[in-house]
Parts: sequence; structure tokens; C-alpha cells
Amino acid sequence: MLLEIKDIHVHYGKIAALKGITATVDQGEIVTLIGANGAGKTTTLKTISGLRPLSSGSIVFEGNDISKMPGHKRVVAGIGQSPEGRGCFPGMTVEENLLMGAYTRKGDVSKELNEAYELFPRLAERKTQAAGTMSGGEQQMLAIGRALMSKPKVLLLDEPSMGLAPMLVQQIFTIIQEINRRGTTVLLVEQNAQQALQIAHRAYVLETGRVVKSAQASELLDDPEVRAAYLGGELGGDGADGVSGTRAESASDTASDTASDGPSGDTPGDAPDGPSVRKSDG
Ligand SMILES: Nc1ncnc2c1ncn2[C@@H]1O[C@H](COP(=O)(O)OP(=O)(O)OP(=O)(O)O)[C@@H](O)[C@H]1O
Ligand SMILES: [Mg+2]
Repeated sequence: MLLEIKDIHVHYGKIAALKGITATVDQGEIVTLIGANGAGKTTTLKTISGLRPLSSGSIVFEGNDISKMPGHKRVVAGIGQSPEGRGCFPGMTVEENLLMGAYTRKGDVSKELNEAYELFPRLAERKTQAAGTMSGGEQQMLAIGRALMSKPKVLLLDEPSMGLAPMLVQQIFTIIQEINRRGTTVLLVEQNAQQALQIAHRAYVLETGRVVKSAQASELLDDPEVRAAYLGGELGGDGADGVSGTRAESASDTASDTASDGPSGDTPGDAPDGPSVRKSDG
């Protein structure tokens, strides 16, 4: 098992955000955490990356207990995170931001840089642009690209589709599949449960700091309770805003899809965090 989260409890002051979460991520998997606002998804990722301390429980990575390891050492150990929101360095160029992601690495990182540009051709076109002037969607790509620069064994993604125009949402999920296909294990937090479940192998459903369900992602897609709560309704209903082909799509199309200058690719910043995007599956 690559990553094991064992009965973790996490508090913000007196408020218990996580009340005993247990989950595992195996080498090669995409595992997704789904749940309503405030369920504890971001807190779980932050605790894994060492940004929040544990009240109790433990985190085991590659067989080693890392519960007390500082965050920067977890990055070196192979835990990469692309945080909720974007968190790019606005005054630095795209390329400088990517190189910042490789700060834990010694030696030549041109291979990783080229891979990031290959996954996100938009970043290659904008190498010298200040990150702060990139559109919302472009900054989201940059955040993921930067996280990949540390060559993580497991990539923690917090709402990578947040605020993206629908067409770009689709691309991000395809790119996550491609990242996984190239060998990176992924722990994915998403409000877009439908799409997350379509690309994930397994999933955990969180409610108010607890895991209330865990199963194969495909099972949860058919689970009436999950459908009612997170997928916008009826079995077989068309609440999925036309993404049912996602899983079948060839991941190798990623680069060319992303390179194409479709209308949504030019306007992701027009709808940052817009409700229409967030609720597209609800
Ligand atoms: N810095 C903080 N101080 C106090 N409480 C916090 C803090 N961050 C999160 N919480 C609380 O912890 C709980 C879990 O929050 P968390 O951000 O993990 O939820 P989430 O599942 O990521 O939600 P969302 O889908 O809205 O991003 C919430 O009740 C939230 O209010
Ligand atoms: Mg969150």
C-alpha cells in the first residue's frame, strides 16, 4: 500500500474537522474523495501533506509512519500537492513557477519541465507570462504542472476543476487520467463527483469528518444514495452534462485536445468559481 490514513482526527481549535478517517491509496490508483462542502476533504489532503497536525491517528507512506514528518520532507518523500485555489506565485513567470515546483530536486529537471509543457501546451505558449496574469483555468493548469515537477509518487489534487469552463473541466479530467497512466498515483478531491467517479478506481464518501462509504468508483456511480446526494439524481438520468464518454476517451489525445484553441480554452477566466460550473452536475 502506497499511502495509508489510519483513523485520523484533526481539529481547528476546538472544532473537530476530521473524526476518524481511514483510507488507503494503492500504487497506480486514482482514488477520489467526494463529499459536501465542509465534509473534510481539503483538511484530509492538508493533513497528508503535513500542513495540518494530527490530533490522533497516523499516516503511513510506503510503510513508514510520516505522521510527524514536516511538510517539506513529505514533498521530498514523494507526496505532491496542488492546493485548493491556485497558489501560484503571481509575480513570477510560468516557467519560474514550474521550476519552483522542482525545488526539492537536485540536478537537471528539463525532462519534467518538458513533460509539464507536453501535458499543458497552454503553459508552453505562455512560458514568460507572469503567472498572476494567466486566466483562472491556466493558473489551475500551472498549479498541477508545478506539483508534478517534484516527481511525486502520489499527487494530491484539491478541486482541480474548480472554476473552469465546462470544456476545460473535461480536459482537466482527461489530463489527470494521463498523469495517472504515466505512473503517478492520484488522490483526487472533487465537487464534480460524476467526473471524478468516472476516472477514479476507488472512492470514499465523506460526511462531516467521517467516511460514510467506500467502494469501487463504478459502484458508487450506480449507488442510489450517492446519486441522490452527489450526482444530481436518478439512475440513468442525464445529470452528467454530457461527460459519459470520458472514460472511453483515449488519454493520448490529451496534448492535442489541450493545444486546440477552442472557445472555452480562451475564456476560462471569464467564469472563475462561477456557480454554473460548480453545480453543473447537481
Ligand atoms: N482554518 C480553519 N479554521 C477553522 N475551521 C476550519 C478551517 N478550515 C476548515 N475548517 C472547518 O473544517 C471543516 C472541514 O473543512 P474542509 O475545508 O476540509 O472541507 P471540504 O470538504 O474541503 O469542503 P469544500 O468542499 O467546501 O472545499 C469545515 O467545517 C470547516 O469549516
Ligand atoms: Mg475543500
